[in-house]
Amino acid sequence: MEKRALGTSGLEVSALGLGCMGMSFGLGPAADKQEMIQLIQKAVERGVTFFDTAEVYGPFTNEELVGEALAPFRGQVTIATKFGFDIDLATGQNRGGLDSRPEHIKAAVEASLKRLRTDYIDLYYQHRVDPNVPIEDVAGVVKDLIQAGKVKHFGLSEAGVDVIRRAHAVQPVAALQSEYSLWWREPEQEIIPTLEELGIGFVPFSPLGKGFLTGEIDEHTEFDKSDFRNTVPRFAPEARKANQALVNLLGRIAQEKNATPAQVALAWLLAQKPWIAPIPGTTKLHRLEENLAAASLELSADTLQELEQAAAQITVQGDRYAPAQQKMINR
Ligand SMILES: NC(=O)c1ccc[n+]([C@@H]2O[C@H](COP(=O)([O-])OP(=O)(O)OC[C@H]3O[C@@H](n4cnc5c(N)ncnc54)[C@H](OP(=O)(O)O)[C@@H]3O)[C@@H](O)[C@H]2O)c1
Repeated sequence: MEKRALGTSGLEVSALGLGCMGMSFGLGPAADKQEMIQLIQKAVERGVTFFDTAEVYGPFTNEELVGEALAPFRGQVTIATKFGFDIDLATGQNRGGLDSRPEHIKAAVEASLKRLRTDYIDLYYQHRVDPNVPIEDVAGVVKDLIQAGKVKHFGLSEAGVDVIRRAHAVQPVAALQSEYSLWWREPEQEIIPTLEELGIGFVPFSPLGKGFLTGEIDEHTEFDKSDFRNTVPRFAPEARKANQALVNLLGRIAQEKNATPAQVALAWLLAQKPWIAPIPGTTKLHRLEENLAAASLELSADTLQELEQAAAQITVQGDRYAPAQQKMINR
């Protein structure tokens, strides 16, 4: 698969990574661990070198899964994980808030390294900006971790442009990971131009709209009670019904291209900038293969324009987060 440089950081990853969260957390019950280990290893065989996890996914089952699956391939892959939630490191209890205090980061990184079965983390993101800790302090701790060899690159997630600039001035940021897809295009306003100016790579999360943009979900779909999408206004049945227009558009383009809606959604992201590397998630091998094939789906300028014009006619309904989650996005 094509490799992409995440900005000017020197970090190079497969154009499509693999988001591992849903294998253990967030999107319904955890999948079978042995099956997920095989799936991650099959992704490596198929050229994926970029794997995404976080301390909070579980906690801590997803990092354990990723660590076990990738241990045999450690030198060949980029492992990205995240810190910054208020998690009791001894018990794994998620207290529901944020904690990027330097002492917490220093303890969290040691625990993540153990679970990931490695002595360095390739890309260590602050998961959410902590309003109680100056970003300069966070960047300073990560700088120390980089100097100590425990971390290779610094990342931020869902940070705003001021925070990105302030962090970058202390420790260069290699990548920002934030939501970006055909149904969440806010990053185009300020974020993407800032990343371009500063030479920071962009890693879009939920690039398939948490599954919605694939066409496999409609207003009748019922999610497991543990599925976080039950709380998302954009996934309320009436919003799903209204947002079907976007899926229909993707379906139309997909048909023209002999592709699938998921592939068009990913190819559209890849076409936006050469320093974007999305991380779609799946628990199924046939979908992994479908998604990876998007890396070789070229959308012509005419197709991109057609998509752009048609998408501009559609207003997406529903917030992307419930108020409790939205509150944690501090720009
Ligand atoms: N930084 C952050 O705050 C943040 C937030 C959310 C996510 N993330 C990261 O981003 C990664 C991806 O995001 P995400 O999981 O939220 O959303 P996503 O990748 O947009 O969508 C994942 C969902 O789509 C389904 N799916 C995947 N490929 C499909 C296909 N070809 N056809 C039909 N359905 C398909 C998956 O179900 P199946 O498993 O059944 O295939 C799953 O339910 C996560 O794994 C996580 O690492 C980060």
